[in-house]
Amino acid sequence: MSASDLSALSAVPLDLERARAGLDASRLGVKLHYFASIDSTNSEARRLAEDGAAEGEVVVAEAQFRGRGRLGRLWESPPFANLYLSVILRPHLAPVHAPQITLMAAVALAETVGVFLSRPPAIKWPNDILVDGKKLAGILTEAACDSARIEYVILGIGLNLNYGADSMPAQLRQRATSIAQLTGQPLVRETVLRRLIQDLDRCYGELEASGFEGLRARWEALFVWRGRRVRVELGDRVLIGRAQGIEPGGALILEDDEGQRRSIVAGDVIPLEI
Ligand code: BTN
Repeated sequence: MSASDLSALSAVPLDLERARAGLDASRLGVKLHYFASIDSTNSEARRLAEDGAAEGEVVVAEAQFRGRGRLGRLWESPPFANLYLSVILRPHLAPVHAPQITLMAAVALAETVGVFLSRPPAIKWPNDILVDGKKLAGILTEAACDSARIEYVILGIGLNLNYGADSMPAQLRQRATSIAQLTGQPLVRETVLRRLIQDLDRCYGELEASGFEGLRARWEALFVWRGRRVRVELGDRVLIGRAQGIEPGGALILEDDEGQRRSIVAGDVIPLEI
């Protein structure tokens, strides 16, 4: 199937009843809010959370006109092709552990994607899912907390499913992919949505029950750059060294060329070796 075929066949809106049918989740997906078009599901989820929405409510949109990525980037969000969703969480975690939500979500998302690809994707710390070095999905976690507690976390996920290469803006084509581009098969988006909510529900339950240590081995197994030389862009500074894994709080451990161990809390990581 060609990439242009993919965009032609996917002009069908999401059917949330179909996604809900047989949903096996204890907390997440209790309520699904659907929008044909919205600025950003994260922004809408935040508005709902401020109005008292419960843990587990999910905002799903067919398209976003101000879809947001990390570091103020735009998330391309055309209709009918992909999944854009945000989950409202009210975790019993100390604010310092809020980054663990992103790590947990990366494990869940990678496990979901692995089912439809029949091979595991890679996690790019902190929030990307890659296949063959191209971005398949991204996570944007935004928390509202005071010094003592997390009031809520908005867990936003964008996952490219039936996005044809021909439909992608040129600058994205080299760096991004979709499950259908990788397999040559279009996906039923409702099936993927259901599976993703279930996997998030399961991994979130594990995080709450045993902390991130219970998920760490799976995260590390999916983190393909462990031990490799990477360049870390920190805005105004660049560090080069070997990625060593992550700290309990979610920071990336980098051993720089002077042998010094550094904790990276936020930044862009680029591999220097294949
Ligand atoms: C990134 O890779 O930089 C994160 C991308 C996150 C995109 C998703 S799409 C659903 C949710 N709503 C948003 O505005 N962003 C996230």
